[in-house]
Amino acid sequence: MAPSGTDGSLIASLHELSVQVAVGAGKVARAGRAGGFEVGTKSTDTDLVTGVDRAVEGWLAAALHHARPDDGLLAEEGASRTGTSGVRWVIDPIDGTVNFALGLPQYAVSVAAELDGTVVAGCVHNPESAETYSAALGAGALLVQPGRSPRALGGPRSVELARAVVGTGFGYAGWQRARQGELVSRLLPRIGDIRRLGAASLDLCAVASGRLDAYFEVGLNHWDYAAGLLIATEAGCVASGLPGHEPGPRLVTVAGAGLAGPLAELLTGLGIEAISA
Ligand code: IPD
Repeated sequence: MAPSGTDGSLIASLHELSVQVAVGAGKVARAGRAGGFEVGTKSTDTDLVTGVDRAVEGWLAAALHHARPDDGLLAEEGASRTGTSGVRWVIDPIDGTVNFALGLPQYAVSVAAELDGTVVAGCVHNPESAETYSAALGAGALLVQPGRSPRALGGPRSVELARAVVGTGFGYAGWQRARQGELVSRLLPRIGDIRRLGAASLDLCAVASGRLDAYFEVGLNHWDYAAGLLIATEAGCVASGLPGHEPGPRLVTVAGAGLAGPLAELLTGLGIEAISA
């Protein structure tokens, strides 16, 4: 729900700005990839960061500051600041950095706007496919693709759990991956199939657009899912976290209305709570 007393035109303008800066940042990312870049590591040896992640984040931080100087910012590579307007931007300059570094086309710029702590607008833009997913709270979710008319998103097909194609992802710490892999080994015989595509924001948009039936992941950061989660729920998907909790860093699950309950029950039965501790 929108914060009480919210001006719809503010949400509309935050939505418009999220799309504008995500698409602009996508151009910076593509140009940076073509020009060559440095690759370093962060939390573990498998958690990559490139010079382009930092350049795109710097570009986004400057563009948002220029447009709305009083807003706060939470950004993956650390360009965060406290604002005074009640709006905070949550950005992942390149979600899917490993794909980006390897030359795989599945990565995105993710930009979300929070108003008084609620995500009210967001955009996930894949610079390689030029696909732009976006949403504003209460106004639905949209996919803009080259050569096609903009499409309102309606979530995945209706499918039973035994045939559902479910996306997931893995963290960067070995101990966490071992637990996640064990859970997937127990899940796989009970569903249609698994996909690990490598960019959480795009996984969420894939459920919104019906390319995946569901998605879950343990251990995400807010910037990985802030925009994608709004896009999925505005497309009519059901989002949940651990039993009795909202979606969050410990668990994000998204599915169509018919699948959400059975999937959540199955994940609980398979011990998702223990692996997300
Ligand atoms: C990662 C990707 C990946 C997910 C990881 C995230 P990053 O984000 O979204 O799909 O499995 O949990 O950390 O590091 O590429 O921004």
